[in-house]
Formats: sequence, C-alpha cells, structure tokens
Amino acid sequence: MENITISKIASPESVKQVGLIRLNRPKQLNALSPELMVELGQSLLQLDADEEVGCIIITGNDKAFAAGADIGVMANYGFADVYKQDYITKNWETIQKVRKPVIAAVAGFALGGGCELAMMCDFIIAANNAKFGQPEIKLGIIPGAGGTQRLTRFIGKAKAMEMILTGRMMSADEAERLGLVCRVVALEELLSESLKTAFLIAGNGLLAVMAAKEAVNKSFETSLAEGVMFERRLFHALFATQDQKEGMLAFVEKRAAKFSDS
Ligand code: HXC
Repeated sequence: MENITISKIASPESVKQVGLIRLNRPKQLNALSPELMVELGQSLLQLDADEEVGCIIITGNDKAFAAGADIGVMANYGFADVYKQDYITKNWETIQKVRKPVIAAVAGFALGGGCELAMMCDFIIAANNAKFGQPEIKLGIIPGAGGTQRLTRFIGKAKAMEMILTGRMMSADEAERLGLVCRVVALEELLSESLKTAFLIAGNGLLAVMAAKEAVNKSFETSLAEGVMFERRLFHALFATQDQKEGMLAFVEKRAAKFSDS
C-alpha cells in the first residue's frame, strides 16, 4: 500500500499479536486523502479478520497523527461531487465495523479529520507533543466526520463549541484533563506504551473483549435502562463460553488463564 504501512507485532509474553497500522504520508503531515482512507479501511478489515491479532493500533509519526482530510483534494470538490460519491460516509466509516479494539496512538497534529479519526478509535493514547483541534471553520466548512458529535460527548458543550467555533488547538494535557485521551506519555514512549496496553487487551479472551467494546459503544446510542439491559444480555451470554469457565477456574486454581476464544 502506498499511504499506509501495516505490520503484526509479536511479544514473548503474548499468544496473540498486535496489528500496527501506520499512516504514511509524512510530507503532507499524513493528510487523509481518499486513497489513504480506502487503504486504511482495507487494513482494518484485514487485521480484524486475522485470528492471530487481538488488538489494533493506528498511529502516525512524531510530527503528525494526521493534519486532517486532504485540503488539496477537497478544494476541487463541489456539492455534486461530494454528494454523488457519498464523501466521508463511503470510506471513513469502515472503522466502525471493526469488532476488535482499535487504539489511536497520537503524536503531533491530530486536526480536523485526523482528530475525528482518533475519536472513532476506541481510545486515544497521546504523546506529550500531541495537538488536537477541529480547525475546519477556518476553511469555511465544519467538521464532517463526526467531530461536532463525538468531541461534544467527550469534552462537553462549552469546550467543544469553543474549539469548533475558534478552530484553536488543544494540548495533550488539556485533552487528558477533559477526558478526550486516556493517558499522556513521553513522545519516545508512545509506541512502547501503546503496545503494552494493546498486549494487555490481546491477552484477554476475544469474546469478552468484543462484547465489552460493543457494550461500551452502546452507551452512546441508548437510554441508561436500555444500555444496562444490553450489557446484561451480553453478560449472561458470556456464561455460555469456554473462556468464562477457563477464566474463573484459573482464578480458583491460582494460575494464568489460557483463553481459547471459544
Ligand atoms: C493537505 C496538508 C494538510 C492537509 C498539512 N499539509 N496539512 N496538505 N491537507 N490537511 C501539507 C502542507 O500543505 C505542506 O505541504 C506540508 O503538509 C507541511 O505543512 P506546513 O503547513 O508547512 O507545516 P507547519 O508549518 O508545521 O504547519 C502545520 C499545520 C498546518 C498547523 C498542521 O499544516 C495546517 O494548518 N494544516 C491544515 C490543518 C487543517 O486545516 N486541517 C483540517 C482539514 S479539513 P507543502 O507541499 O507546502 O510542503 C478536514 C475536514 C474534515 O479535515 C471533514 C471530514 C473528514
């Protein structure tokens, strides 16, 4: 692939591997062109289907996770173009179909579509040089890949409104304080810390991991009562799995569980 590198990382302590997707258009600060988004979607589906992989990381480079959708490409679009090709909906939302956890490991700029892509992941680990923002307003548009909705849910109306209306950038520390990112780490440690977290996830039984992801994501879509009922049904269902038997037996026998994803 031209705009993405994809690799599988193994660890001596882990049965499962971690799928690593690196956005790779460094000269353009990883601007998210339509070609890149097609490749990203293909890479995500490939790793999601790979039985050796237990968790996925999307990252960029030290300077940029992604500085947004490719402005050079968008500059030529008119309404008929974006409407006919179903711009964004067509290629950007593949990530929502991925059932394994996806971590965004963000260093440098995560702006516009880059910030929105990070927010579509299951959680964000940020390097201390990360900068988040939705600067679309300065281009005469608004966020189009969920920024007005997800940023508002993460950090609340006052901060989201201010960020989206001014286009200002937010530091990693501010993003952590407001709940946009789960943790800030030193830039040199971004990949190692993200891998450590990914291997912790990959070491758990896949059925429970997928169910947990589904249940947490449901909380954005339902009332509390419906969400709790959805959780309860998945919780009950997990008692039909081999992994539940093994997980609890291993605890009783004071040994590490060997999950079989069944
Ligand atoms: C295309 C981009 C780009 C982008 C940077 N580049 N961002 N190209 N699309 N989003 C290119 C620059 O043109 C330049 O190319 C090279 O990357 C390096 O960028 P510089 O501006 O020279 O770097 P710097 O001075 O360090 O400034 C970094 C920056 C700035 C603050 C991030 O590049 C910037 O403001 N970029 C645009 C950010 C933005 O507006 N993002 C939102 C896009 S709209 P050359 O060839 O000159 O070296 C969007 C809509 C989402 O995302 C809607 C749904 C997806």
